[in-house]
Amino acid sequence: MNTKLFSSLALRDVVLKNRIVASPMWQYAGQAFKPTDWHLMNLGRLADGGAGLVYQEGTTVERRGCGTLGDIGIWSDDDVEAYSRIVRLIESCGSVPGIQLIHAGRKARQRPPQQGRGALERTSDITDWEAWDVIAPSAIAQAEGFPVPREMTLADIQQVIEAFTAAARRADRAGYRVVQLHAAHGYLLHEFLSPVSNRRTDAYGGSFENRARMLLDVVGGVRSVLPQGKPLVVRLSCIDGQSGGWTLEDTFALVRLLYAHGVDLIDCSSGGIDGSPLTKGLAASYGYQAGLSEAVRRETGVPTTAVGLIVHAHQAESVLQEEKADLVALARELIYNPNWPMDAARKLGDEKSFDVMQRREAFWLERRAITVPDLVPSTFDDPFAPAEVGSSSSAKR
Ligand SMILES: Cc1cc2nc3c(=O)[nH]c(=O)nc-3n(C[C@H](O)[C@H](O)[C@H](O)COP(=O)(O)O)c2cc1C
Repeated sequence: MNTKLFSSLALRDVVLKNRIVASPMWQYAGQAFKPTDWHLMNLGRLADGGAGLVYQEGTTVERRGCGTLGDIGIWSDDDVEAYSRIVRLIESCGSVPGIQLIHAGRKARQRPPQQGRGALERTSDITDWEAWDVIAPSAIAQAEGFPVPREMTLADIQQVIEAFTAAARRADRAGYRVVQLHAAHGYLLHEFLSPVSNRRTDAYGGSFENRARMLLDVVGGVRSVLPQGKPLVVRLSCIDGQSGGWTLEDTFALVRLLYAHGVDLIDCSSGGIDGSPLTKGLAASYGYQAGLSEAVRRETGVPTTAVGLIVHAHQAESVLQEEKADLVALARELIYNPNWPMDAARKLGDEKSFDVMQRREAFWLERRAITVPDLVPSTFDDPFAPAEVGSSSSAKR
C-alpha cells in the first residue's frame, strides 16, 4: 500500500524520505551550554527509529536566551565541532538533521519543568547570574511570580538579530540541513508578535507590521547566511487563545509575509504567551492543533507541519490525506517509542515496512517475521491482554 506518511517531500534541495518529524525536545542535559553524550544518544535513536527529519532541541543563540539550567547554545564558533558530531550521526542513520534556534526572552531563568514551573532561584552554582539578563519587548512579566523583564533597547534588538544570524551561520557550518526559528510558546520572537507582551511605541511595537518586524528582521538575517538550498522553517503559536491576543487572522497575514521573505514551511503550534502549557479554547485531544495547520495551509498555500497529540499511525496518515498538513511532528510519542515510524509502517500495511530502519536492523526483523509469521511485535495490540474489562479470562494463551 502506498501511504502519504511514507512518501518523500522536497523542501528546496533537501529531500525528506518520509513525512515524520521528530519535534524539538529539550533535554535539560547540556553541560556548560554544550551538548553531551546524552544528546548524541537521544537524537541518534530518533534518527535510527526512522523519522525523516530530526530536530535538535531549542538551541539558544545567546547567553541571555537560555530558558533554564542544562540548555545548550550555539553562540561560539568553538561549539561547531560538537554539533557536527550530532549531524553526522543523524545523517548516518538516513535522516535529515534540523536545528531549532531560540531566544527565551522573558521566559529566561526558569526552573526546569521537572522541578515544577516557576522562576529560578539564585544559587552559587550559577556563576554568571548577572549575564543572564531577562529581556523582552516590554517590561511585563509572563505571569505573577515571574521576573519582570528589562525592556529591550534598540541596541539589544540589533544584538539579538545578529545573534540569530550568527547562530544560523554556525548551524550551517555544523551541517544542519533545516533551520527552524522558534517564534511560538511565549518565547522572545512570539513576545514581539503578541499584543499581550508587546506594548512598545517604537518601530517594533504597536501595529501588526511593527510587531512582526522583529521576526522578519531575524528571518532576513538568517536567510542571508543560509545557502539557497537549505529550507527555513518557523514555528508559530497560531493563536494566543486570549482576548486581545494574537489571532488566526494575524497568523495568515504573517505567514504570507514570512513566505515572501524566504520561509518555506510553518510549524503550527499554539499558546504559551502566559506561560501556560495549555491553549485556552483548544481542548487537548488527539491532533488538537491540526485544524490550525489546515487553516494556515488552506488560506496561505504555504506548506505546514501539524503537531500536538499525533499518536497513531492511521491518525497521522489521515492528517496528511485530508490535506491538513505536509508533515506531522511527534514529540512525546517518540519518547514512548522512538521506533514509531516502523511500527506505523507496519500498521498501515506498508510491504517494505522494515526498510524504515537501517538494513543491519531490518534484516533481523524480516528474518524473525518469516520464521515466526504469527508472532505479533510487542508494540502492536497486546495479544496477552484480558479479552475485555471485567471478564474473568485473564489472557488469551
Ligand atoms: C520533553 C519535551 C521537550 C520539548 N522541547 C521543545 C523545544 O525544545 N522546542 C519546542 O518548540 N517545543 C518543545 N516541546 C514541544 C514539542 O515539540 C511538541 O510541540 C509538543 O510536545 C506537542 O507534541 P506531542 O503531543 O507529540 O508531544 C517539547 C516537548 C517535550 C515533551
